[in-house]
Amino acid sequence: MKVLVVGGGGREHAILYKLSQSEKVTKLYCAPGNFGTRKLAESVPLKVMDKEGILDFSLKNNIDMVVVSPDDPLADGMVDYLEKGGIRAFGPCKDAARIESSKIFAKNLMKKYNIPTARYETFEDSESAVSFVKEMDTYPVVVKADGLALGKGVIIAHDFESAEYAIVSMMENKKFGASGTKIVIEEYLTGPEVTVLAFTDGKTLVPMVSSQDHKRAYDNDEGPNTGGMGAFSPSPVYSEEVAEICMRDIFMPTLEALNKEGIVYKGVIYFGLMITKDGPKVIEYNARFGDPEAQCVLARLDSDLYEIFDAIVERRLDGMEIKWKKEKACCVVLASGGYPGKYETGYEIFGVEQAERVGAYVFHAGTGGIDKCVTAGGRVLGVTALGKTLEEAILRAYKASAHISFKDMYYRKDIGRKFV
Ligand code: AMP
Ligand code: GLY
Repeated sequence: MKVLVVGGGGREHAILYKLSQSEKVTKLYCAPGNFGTRKLAESVPLKVMDKEGILDFSLKNNIDMVVVSPDDPLADGMVDYLEKGGIRAFGPCKDAARIESSKIFAKNLMKKYNIPTARYETFEDSESAVSFVKEMDTYPVVVKADGLALGKGVIIAHDFESAEYAIVSMMENKKFGASGTKIVIEEYLTGPEVTVLAFTDGKTLVPMVSSQDHKRAYDNDEGPNTGGMGAFSPSPVYSEEVAEICMRDIFMPTLEALNKEGIVYKGVIYFGLMITKDGPKVIEYNARFGDPEAQCVLARLDSDLYEIFDAIVERRLDGMEIKWKKEKACCVVLASGGYPGKYETGYEIFGVEQAERVGAYVFHAGTGGIDKCVTAGGRVLGVTALGKTLEEAILRAYKASAHISFKDMYYRKDIGRKFV
């Protein structure tokens, strides 16, 4: 089988890594890919939003399956477009991807089907949003842009002034463009956050092993929000009991809700959960693997990822056994100085091979270059290691990271530390 993966980050490198282990896969392509994916897959110089280009390439090269990995092309309907053009695609269709591309759609779905989540109201004009916050007078309060905003569309406001500022900058000043035309204002929840990714073909849903992301830029969860600075798997707070509650009250009800709305969801659902004292609640859904959660979760996958994708596309996930390694995993993200704000690129990266000799997988995220590997993004590498215990996985990931360097590199030193 010839498989094309759309995307060019650490998550896509991890997907390619697992696909490359499949006996069914003969050739891999990645659009656009990065310096690291080139070892596994031929790079295709197409943008992730270029659905015409992706379809054209797939038809000309007899691609058997396109894996649409990032949020934007999913929200834009790339899967629908490819299928219409006669190419098999893995990922949710445009309608199904709304669980991520519209927070209002997701919240209304949860409310209608009694899926536990933070209480909320939606707004289409800033005046009523501001007076609602004033009337409620409870802080912190959470202000969320309806649409996709690179993970930056969520503001936790600690007083009226900052809530008002968030509302006005989203709705009036268009800080996130059209994504902030409508907003959600919701109750602030507290508790540990856990990510559970699940495979589903719309009939059967199989949760993957749990994981935890670290969204803030600096140690001790300080600094600005990022796409994710590191992850580990499994999450110690995600006990079997919590898992059962989630399956009963969140995962299956979400699948049933989608079905009742006439939506066939095929792909990966990302459940962003908060384990509150009143039980697990949904913070967000995503229509894809998380990044960097995927790097940890896929490193622990023992089964053939192509076979799973194939079963989902053909809607025969039922009865398929998905096996996981007992080992735990940790991924440390090495980032460009300045990220998630402004940063420079083009710096040479040293020490990747030495890091891999320690027994880590170095998944490339923002890398490029022709002969030598250089930085090309904010999150540059995801150094991922397995270990018998979480502690061993963490130690190995850090030991490997210590071999790598590039100008202005920084990374969090406390990934998973709370739990060892
Ligand atoms: P999201 O993009 O929806 O995942 O939000 C980004 C981050 O904001 C989450 O990972 C949480 O840490 C935080 N967050 C979002 N919604 C809430 C909420 N209702 N209460 C507390 N924190 C939240
Ligand atoms: N790591 C969070 C996300 O992928 O949305």
